[in-house]
Amino acid sequence: MAILVTGGCGFIGSHTCVELARAGYDLVVADNFHNAKEEVCNRIETLTGRPLRVYRCDVREEAALCRIFEEQTIEAVIHFAGWKAVGESTRLPLEYYDNNLSGTVTLCKVMQRYGCKRLVFSSSATVYGEENPSPLTEDMPVGQVANPYARTKLFNEWVVKDLCAADPTFCGILLRYFNPIGAHPSGTMGEDPNGIPNNLMPYITGVAVGKLPKLMVFGNDYPTPDGTGIRDYIHVVDLARGHVAAVQYALAHTGAEVINLGTGVGYSVLDVVHAFEEANDLAIPYEIAPRRPGDVTIYCADPSKAERLLGWRAEYGIHDMCRDSWRWQKNNPNGYEE
Ligand code: UFG
Repeated sequence: MAILVTGGCGFIGSHTCVELARAGYDLVVADNFHNAKEEVCNRIETLTGRPLRVYRCDVREEAALCRIFEEQTIEAVIHFAGWKAVGESTRLPLEYYDNNLSGTVTLCKVMQRYGCKRLVFSSSATVYGEENPSPLTEDMPVGQVANPYARTKLFNEWVVKDLCAADPTFCGILLRYFNPIGAHPSGTMGEDPNGIPNNLMPYITGVAVGKLPKLMVFGNDYPTPDGTGIRDYIHVVDLARGHVAAVQYALAHTGAEVINLGTGVGYSVLDVVHAFEEANDLAIPYEIAPRRPGDVTIYCADPSKAERLLGWRAEYGIHDMCRDSWRWQKNNPNGYEE
């Protein structure tokens, strides 16, 4: 019996593979390597000490997915595969709907055909939109989401909820992530974005390693103590362990559950810059720039449902996240490329 991890070679997927193996699960990965490097497989194998079963396929390819279910005994699926860049999604909406929605629908159809009824889906806190006040709780109405990427997460949640309503023996866990940063403490796995990073931590590590001249802080006129935006940053290893707890839960329950994975603690952009400088004894030059369109003032989780249902809570703090992000970048200045 194995857990199928789609997108298992991506940033969160790869860390989840390692934590699943640590928890004693057998795993099978499906990845099309659109946004992941083959080298990730070697790093996962080194950390887990076992060969990784990888299928190079796209989750939209029904026949390829069927082959996995024919050849392996899959008891649950963790579905990460999808596109994730907010800005790109506004330029390529059809690609986002195709990859992110067709992928999930095809996967669910194949799961149904093979009697696999346990699904953990990679959703995002972005579905809360702009109107809901933090701390964000799962029972809040989902918000007015501002871009196609966010809408694919929202629609996918409905795909899974509707499937659970139609089949009471199905279990779908919808995990709403806050801001994953950090890297594996070994320094061998981490985030490896293509091109110039969009997100804060890869940008900071890019500055620290000398690839980028300085950080642009997007806005210091938000109604927060230092004027910069506040987010709930979560260590990717904590997030990965949240998936292990969610799989355990899914194997023993039915129905749909929406669960936040965050720490419940918010840090401003400047808090993160200063924590990074302190944790690593480095200076990060920065400049205040205009606000980035679409950014909200504060996004922070109420993580109590995850603790209540899954017995999971985040353990790493902001300094750990900064230290591990830097160790990864320093040891791998070109990411997974040699
Ligand atoms: N920021 C900067 N400079 C940068 C990059 C980011 O100041 O170069 C600021 C942003 O303005 C924001 C904070 O750092 O205040 C965090 O920004 P990120 O881009 O790292 O993360 P976001 O909160 O914008 O987005 C993340 C994920 C999305 C997800 C969203 C909502 O990247 O996939 O959270 O949950 F949709």
